[in-house]
Amino acid sequence: MTGRPRVFVSRRIPEEGLRPIAEAADTDLWPDDLPPPRDELLRRVAGVDGLLALLTDRVDDELLDAAGPQLRVVSNYAVGFDNVDVPACTRRGVAVGNTAGVLTETTADLAFALLMAAARRLAEGYDYVRADRWQTWGPLLLLGADVHHATLGIIGFGRIGREIARRASGFDMTVLYHDAVRASPADEAALHARSVSLQELLAASDFISLHVNLTPETRGMMGREAFRAMKPTAIVINTSRGPVVDQAALFEALRDGAIGGAALDVTDPEPMRADDPLLTLANCLVVPHIASGSRATRARMAEIAAANLLAGLRGEALPSPVNPEVAPRR
Ligand code: DGY
Repeated sequence: MTGRPRVFVSRRIPEEGLRPIAEAADTDLWPDDLPPPRDELLRRVAGVDGLLALLTDRVDDELLDAAGPQLRVVSNYAVGFDNVDVPACTRRGVAVGNTAGVLTETTADLAFALLMAAARRLAEGYDYVRADRWQTWGPLLLLGADVHHATLGIIGFGRIGREIARRASGFDMTVLYHDAVRASPADEAALHARSVSLQELLAASDFISLHVNLTPETRGMMGREAFRAMKPTAIVINTSRGPVVDQAALFEALRDGAIGGAALDVTDPEPMRADDPLLTLANCLVVPHIASGSRATRARMAEIAAANLLAGLRGEALPSPVNPEVAPRR
């Protein structure tokens, strides 16, 4: 590559990432808080050598065509990369990076916070006080479920799932997990976690926390059948991707008492609109996809996203590669 590379950054990210990018490349930064509309995104990527994308940007053949053959790297500002057609990038020799690792504990913190909030009905309690309905201490007021000594089922036992298990052991919870890949005996012992079938996990768990990638296999995996298999008191926590849960089925299950509650950081679609039926239910808590949203973690995500982008532009291996089989292009 001769001269300074050109990059498009599709949203303002923390300075820790923007600064090194602007120092090394001619940077076109999308200035709005909302994502660039599709036609604008396609226009802005034309001729760039690198793209810093967010999970709201679909990176597919159409975008890769619009960018052109000089594009060498797509750095996704997220650990999840279901918005990126990775095989299409690989076919064209475009390296893809993500922000794996740096958000693990922050995401696990939020998942556990949702678990606790749903168990002890924090949102309902807050609404109750704000509505001036608090008259006296009530023996039957807003009774919830115990977290300590309850059974937690973790679906997807990767980095974040394991951090949930670590948090759960502090609450003396029984931890079950289900994953295509079984953890080593040493890890199972350290995390006090037991591998079980999906059916056993659904039937035995008081809380079920989802930590799978969104794939054709996991899309809609929490549907009518899964909810029917769960305890009527069970609470589902989703910090993975919205489409892993069939939301129509979830609404019915919550409304009809087939399960006890849900706490969602991710929805389908995003954003969830205020007239969504799920928001009419007291036993459903929803927050706007903020699991990795601590100041420190978003700054670390910016650093690693910048490091991926700049490594790809220099023709070096990405620090956090999604398709490491793509040979660096100089
Ligand atoms: C991710 O990184 O995939 C989260 O959903 C946003 O941080």
